Amino acid sequence: MDHTGNTPFSETVLAPQRLPVEIPGVSLWQATLAQPDAVIAQWHAWLTPEEKQRAERMARPSLRHRAVAVRALLRGILARELAQGLTISPESLRFQTGAHGRPYLAAAFADGAVRDFNLSHSGDSLLVGILHHTAAPSWQCLGVDLESLQRSRDTTRLAHRVLSAREQDTLERLNHEERQRRFLHYWVLKEAFSKAVGAGFSLGFEAMDFDIDATPAPRARALPEPYCPDDWTLRLLPVAAPFVAALALGNRESEPIPGS
Ligand SMILES: CC(C)(COP(=O)(O)OP(=O)(O)OC[C@H]1O[C@@H](n2cnc3c(N)ncnc32)[C@H](O)[C@@H]1OP(=O)(O)O)[C@@H](O)C(=O)NCCC(=O)NCCS
Repeated sequence: MDHTGNTPFSETVLAPQRLPVEIPGVSLWQATLAQPDAVIAQWHAWLTPEEKQRAERMARPSLRHRAVAVRALLRGILARELAQGLTISPESLRFQTGAHGRPYLAAAFADGAVRDFNLSHSGDSLLVGILHHTAAPSWQCLGVDLESLQRSRDTTRLAHRVLSAREQDTLERLNHEERQRRFLHYWVLKEAFSKAVGAGFSLGFEAMDFDIDATPAPRARALPEPYCPDDWTLRLLPVAAPFVAALALGNRESEPIPGS
């Protein structure tokens, strides 16, 4: 049991791990979706009918299993982070969905400790980012993205479609292996930003220009209208290989939070 009195995960669960992050008011969790069948069967009961239907629509049992694990782990992590001395059960959480599919906590949970959250999954790994009300008020939203270096991609073709001219130049100076990694670093930063604002792939990724080598952390040089690069804080995250992950913190200007 933790200090909130919440025990969302039993001993049998391969429990989520906190990732180190030096930003006050931000928590990051990484979890495995490869959980024992008995745990998945138990977690299924935490899901709403819509979440269960979505999992059912997956083509293979392994994908159905993962879909249940994503929602249950998200619920468990959020219940724990929201609590602040109260006991909030994972199954009691309710979500709303933005125009481009972004999940938000339902208005009924606005009094909890969480200002915003976002998630990303790749293979058997899940990443959840939480922005607390204790964070700087200038940050209204957070986005995360997790990708695997093992997935094969035609980076040369993709680079022309999703990178700025300056990012493409940087890539061209690298050998094959470095290019794969660098491309993915750009990609996770772009996706984390577009997920923070709720736009997903509807934003033009080539209109974003990131300086990955900036110190002390990557920064945006250009972002699509109406976003201002100076409003954004970016990090590449210390996830274990073969994963690469990023966090974006800033202001959501395009999408109003549903129900607010
Ligand atoms: C969001 C998006 C970029 C994610 O791509 P991805 O790399 O395949 O997926 P990730 O693992 O990083 O993130 C997936 C999670 O992000 C969340 N998410 C979905 N749409 C999102 C959005 N617009 N913004 C932020 N987060 C989003 C979901 O929780 C999703 O998990 P789930 O599919 O298990 O529910 C992509 O799916 C997208 O652009 N979707 C928009 C689709 C759309 O416009 N739909 C409109 C009708 S609802």
